Amino acid sequence: MTVARILVVGSGGRENALVWALGRSPGQPRLWLAPGNGGSTDLPGCSVVPIASDDGEALLQLCRREAIELVVIGPEAPLAAGLADGLRQAGLAVFGPGAEGARLEASKHWAKTLMREAGIPSAGFWTVTTREEGVALVRSLGRPLVVKADGLAAGKGVVVAETVEESEAAIEDCFAGRFGAAGRTVVLEERLQGPEVSVFAFTDGEALLLLPPAQDHKRIGEGDTGPNTGGMGAYAPAPLLDAEGLDGVRRQVLEPLLLALRNRGISYRGVIYAGLMLTATGAQVIEFNCRFGDPECQTLMPLLEGDLAGLMLACAQGRLAEAPPLSIRPLCSACVVAAAPGYPDAPHLGDALHDGGGDGDDRRLFHAGTRRDEDGLLRTSGGRVLAAVAEAGDFDAAFAAAYARLAQVSFAGMQVRRDIGHQVRRS
Ligand code: AMP
Ligand code: GLY
Repeated sequence: MTVARILVVGSGGRENALVWALGRSPGQPRLWLAPGNGGSTDLPGCSVVPIASDDGEALLQLCRREAIELVVIGPEAPLAAGLADGLRQAGLAVFGPGAEGARLEASKHWAKTLMREAGIPSAGFWTVTTREEGVALVRSLGRPLVVKADGLAAGKGVVVAETVEESEAAIEDCFAGRFGAAGRTVVLEERLQGPEVSVFAFTDGEALLLLPPAQDHKRIGEGDTGPNTGGMGAYAPAPLLDAEGLDGVRRQVLEPLLLALRNRGISYRGVIYAGLMLTATGAQVIEFNCRFGDPECQTLMPLLEGDLAGLMLACAQGRLAEAPPLSIRPLCSACVVAAAPGYPDAPHLGDALHDGGGDGDDRRLFHAGTRRDEDGLLRTSGGRVLAAVAEAGDFDAAFAAAYARLAQVSFAGMQVRRDIGHQVRRS
């Protein structure tokens, strides 16, 4: 079934990549993006609408006015706030879970409890609601624990402590209000070791369609050093998980998860993001997210071939099993992020951005933290400014093309990690 009119909600690189990929679906759907960013107006077939992703009423009016047939919600905050529920109640087909399903990401305690009940492999944990309780627990165990604010903290609410004292300090920080309400409940976890990989699955709550595994680069500095960021680059398919490994994730993680959600009466329609650590004893879930990863989405979209719009509609309507499958192009995809100076702690924004052009069939820029000023000039407006994505027959060629595309862009103090994909590159 072709979908002619689609609204994508969000303003990041992820949402630009979704619009770009949806626009390549059969029938070339018309797209609306709210609120988008400085690069969104250049996406083919896309109208950019200045409505914030938390303005459910204005988004609903837009859907009615433009006869939208499918809404795709990108970020976690509007999902956790129930945007999908409101739009579904108004009769719209929505790709993205309701607030109950989004608790997978919005409450770590809720997600960990669900995982434990469902027998999903994941680190042992304790939940505490006071500073005293947390400190006493870490002291009695006598080993450092990973400290996580329960709620949404824009990727900043986790401290992987090296010592008992560091765990204690992180617990104190949470209860001192560093993450506001998100840190009033704290999850303490055993520390796992191993490489990390992200697995994404489309679902209508029953059927699953897994995408190739991707690997993100969370730290700001080369050699995986310095503070955590939203992600400085990625590549896919990550050879860390082969077809058999991916099938294990389906059987041991995703199928039990969907069953546990259904047992709670939750019909989850959208994408599930499983952040995994590949430990000596097998894959363990570090976290679930209720949305695509950013920049993993930008990395994966160019690998998809087929009717993405039809597939997302099928998820939204609970008939994924009947949807024609997407095929995955047998290519290597490379994504490199350019961030503002000072990111992640204190990004400097508002600098002029120049792009010499040079998108092609095998490479392109996806804007993220950019805006256009009154004169139409591009300026930086967010920590992660943009990403270059390229695909090729091997990772060396894919990264060479992504870095070459990024070399055509300049803004003051641009931060780029030169070692993205070091795990799979020979040069
Ligand atoms: P999260 O926001 O839960 O993904 O955590 C952010 C990062 O902290 C993860 O990507 C891991 O690198 C690290 N992390 C989280 N939980 C653990 C754990 N139990 N053991 C080791 N590292 C962890
Ligand atoms: N790239 C990590 C995330 O989207 O959470």
